[in-house]
Amino acid sequence: MSVPTLTTVHELRTHCELVRASGRSVGLVPTMGALHEGHLSLIRRARELADEVVVTIFVNPTQFGPNEDFERYPRSLEQDRGLAAEAGAHVVFAPAVETMYPPGEKTRVSVADLTRPLCGASRGPEHFTGVATIVTKLFSVVGPCVACFGRKDYQQLAVIQRLVRDLFLPVRIVPCSTVREEDGLAASSRNRYLDSSWRARAAAIPRALSLAHATFSSGERLAGNLRALVRAELEEQGLEIDYVELADPNELEVFEDAAQVPARVLLALAALAGGTRLIDNLVLGEEPAPIGSLRGALLTSGGAA
Ligand code: PAJ
Repeated sequence: MSVPTLTTVHELRTHCELVRASGRSVGLVPTMGALHEGHLSLIRRARELADEVVVTIFVNPTQFGPNEDFERYPRSLEQDRGLAAEAGAHVVFAPAVETMYPPGEKTRVSVADLTRPLCGASRGPEHFTGVATIVTKLFSVVGPCVACFGRKDYQQLAVIQRLVRDLFLPVRIVPCSTVREEDGLAASSRNRYLDSSWRARAAAIPRALSLAHATFSSGERLAGNLRALVRAELEEQGLEIDYVELADPNELEVFEDAAQVPARVLLALAALAGGTRLIDNLVLGEEPAPIGSLRGALLTSGGAA
């Protein structure tokens, strides 16, 4: 099973215009490929919300910094086409870099403030400018009524929601829950970089989020204490912390250690597992813990909860 793969802007635009002209709605799922269960859940969701689903597969160079993994980012188009088809995609768009960024192209879309903290602080705000630019281009060509994005990339989702609002774009952004592997690690294309030892140690990430969830649920509100317990859990497994922050879920403003956090707060982190940068997050006071059983275990052992 596979789907037609389009590669030019003209083909994609014409295809989507014909779909809409026949009275069918178009849903969009932008990806960088190396598809996994997280991506497939977005495609299934888009299929529920629109008549035709376009999946884009494009490793977008403008969102990678000079020392990042653009060159070695996993690429598996043939396999991805099959997976996308099985999940309900009708068309895959897999353009060349020069198609999306032809010579002489100069326009960038940048969203202020939201792009500065968290991943913006370590990767630079240009990362999100790259994301906002490519997503705007895709919206412009596809004209979707809905587009699905994962909560796993919380800051990216917030940036896209804001750009859609600010530019009055006629598309509904649908946030989708983070899909996790059995031990709670969020599915990610970059998990392919992990050897078995780092893969096992990376499970400290969902464990740390679950510990924070349990501690928050039992009433802890001091930002510094919540951060410290997450950091300790990651460091114990030898993960190198990029950031662990508590932030406002809408504006992404970070709470200082001495601050009391509100009843609904974003806990976001990035850590390196043997050189592989992994991100994860949880909205405390809103979402369940990534590892459901941990709270009970902590409560019975008289641990952090
Ligand atoms: P990529 O990392 O391939 O992710 C594509 C989409 O899948 C994003 O919306 C992301 O949040 C979602 N996703 C990734 N892992 C997920 C998981 N475990 N559970 C649920 N959803 C998950 O994000 C990008 O590509 C790019 O920045 C892109 C938006 C395509 C722009 O280039």
